[in-house]
Amino acid sequence: MFSMVEFILERTNKKTVSAVGFLLITVCNGTTLLAKNDYKHLGVPSCSDSTCHGANVKFVDSNVLRNEFRVWNESDPHARAYATLLNSRSKKIAENLGIGNAAAADMCLGCHADNVAIDKRGAEFDIVDGVTCESCHGGGEAYLQIHTSGDHQASLSKGLYPTEDPRARAELCVSCHVGNESDRKITHEIMGAGHPRLSFELNTFSSIQPAHYEVDSDYIERKGNITELQVWAMGQVVAARQFVSNVESFPKAGLFPELVHMDCLGCHDEMSKLTWSKNPLITLPAGALRYNDSYLLSSYQVAKAVVPELAIPLLTDIKAFLIVNESENSHDIKVKKLDASLEKVERHLSKSPITVVEGLNILATLVDVGLISSHRDYASAEQSAMAINSVLKVLDADNELSRSRGDVVAGVNTLYSSLKDEDNYSSVEFVRGLKKIRQALGTL
Ligand code: HEC
Ligand code: HEC
Ligand code: HEC
Ligand code: HEC
Repeated sequence: MFSMVEFILERTNKKTVSAVGFLLITVCNGTTLLAKNDYKHLGVPSCSDSTCHGANVKFVDSNVLRNEFRVWNESDPHARAYATLLNSRSKKIAENLGIGNAAAADMCLGCHADNVAIDKRGAEFDIVDGVTCESCHGGGEAYLQIHTSGDHQASLSKGLYPTEDPRARAELCVSCHVGNESDRKITHEIMGAGHPRLSFELNTFSSIQPAHYEVDSDYIERKGNITELQVWAMGQVVAARQFVSNVESFPKAGLFPELVHMDCLGCHDEMSKLTWSKNPLITLPAGALRYNDSYLLSSYQVAKAVVPELAIPLLTDIKAFLIVNESENSHDIKVKKLDASLEKVERHLSKSPITVVEGLNILATLVDVGLISSHRDYASAEQSAMAINSVLKVLDADNELSRSRGDVVAGVNTLYSSLKDEDNYSSVEFVRGLKKIRQALGTL
């Protein structure tokens, strides 16, 4: 079911996206940023005072809206993530897994609440608050005082998490929306017990999370101009790296491969459909077990458009990785090579903003690669649609689509309508949408 993502091109907030060039804040390289903040989480009441972030309406003479708590509490699904663990679906999942109460199980709380260690919980901390301010912005113990001074760098050095930085944001959201290998682990067993499939695209999800901030001129002055293209591209590469790391960390469930890493519909499709045909990009034989390669292939497309010299080596590494059954030794080497290739693309993205010309390149690549591979599996088609939509949104805000806008929108709508029903997905209709967009772009 393709329920949470809807067509968002029409909802563009024009002033947020146009120009290129953004300011980089200093973030450490290499290891993940998430592990860094070891401060206490004080709890939502420490943020939600009416003179702080709990105002009823937004402030006019303040850098930030000040009604963030209201937006989160009233309309952000993260505020209800813990309550979800009490609903009947969660009860069923917990029963199937034999874990007792879902709302008391670390297996669920890791993603559905701010499940930090007991000694990291302040006096007002309450687990029932779900995915809280501090789940995303970091434990407030040390930055609570200083962050009201407006000195952003000082707050960052006291544990405020740099959510504005595309790489840091990607690592944060991906840790729950793709899952990780430690405290946020999702498995085929959990899905088999009834958990929905996770699907994620950073820019689309950033757009549909009810915004408790405004990217206006003072925001750009304080934090730099981060384009949605950058957010989309970084999201793909960081998700790809997390995916590879997950495959490495839990490749198997007992004797069998861990199926959560695989293309779900490779198995869960009707046998009578007979949809298999060779994907010329990834030449796997018929009947082979297939990884969910969607983040990997998107990363290849990013590289192809913005760092072409890294694209061919990356594709070679991806192809080698995707061959599932192999000796463990050579597999380890392949994984290291693939991650190193992805990291190079990530480093390039951290340093260089994506230009509008590159945006048009990305779009052409997404459409062309889609036409070559035909996106026979749902997950990659879904990623491709969200990607195309994200890129179009940016180009649209820059008025790059003016003449062919109507035809482009019609094409995107065809993509989305082919994705409405996961169980009856038709790549034929998806390809029809891609062709429409290709044709419309030809007139740009
Ligand atoms: C601590 C884990 C966690 C983090 C970090 C996190 N999320 Fe979520 N997110 C969730 C959970 C759990 C849900 C589902 C809530 C529910 O319905 O119970 C969710 C739901 C959502 C939804 C709604 C999806 C839908 O189906 O409508 C969006 C959008 C979203 N998250 C975006 C983001 C973005 C963007 C980030 C990063 C800035 C992020 N999330 C970070 C756990 C997390
Ligand atoms: C890796 C992180 C992760 C883990 C672990 C996890 N969830 Fe979720 N869960 C999510 C996210 C993210 C969503 C939202 C999916 C979306 O809409 O994209 C979600 C959605 C759900 C939903 C559907 C939302 C609704 O409103 O009904 C239920 C039910 C649920 N989770 C229950 C559980 C239970 C029970 C467990 C423990 C067995 C669990 N989850 C473990 C991340 C996780
Ligand atoms: C799911 C993750 C998530 C949760 C939960 C969350 N935020 Fe945010 N917040 C973000 C992201 C992403 C941004 C935008 C990037 C940025 O400016 O850091 C942001 C921005 C902000 C800003 C900065 C606005 C600006 O103009 O600089 C404030 C203030 C803020 N959030 C406060 C809160 C408060 C208070 C809560 C809890 C009531 C909260 N946030 C909950 C992710 C989250
Ligand atoms: C290699 C084949 C294979 C792959 C790939 C696979 N599954 Fe499964 N799945 C199975 C099998 C086998 C079962 C058990 C069916 C049964 O017990 O009747 C199952 C059961 C399930 C069930 C429970 C179905 C029911 O009838 O209650 C769900 C939900 C599910 N899988 C989701 C997923 C998701 C989501 C993915 C992708 C992340 C996935 N599966 C990938 C083989 C697979």
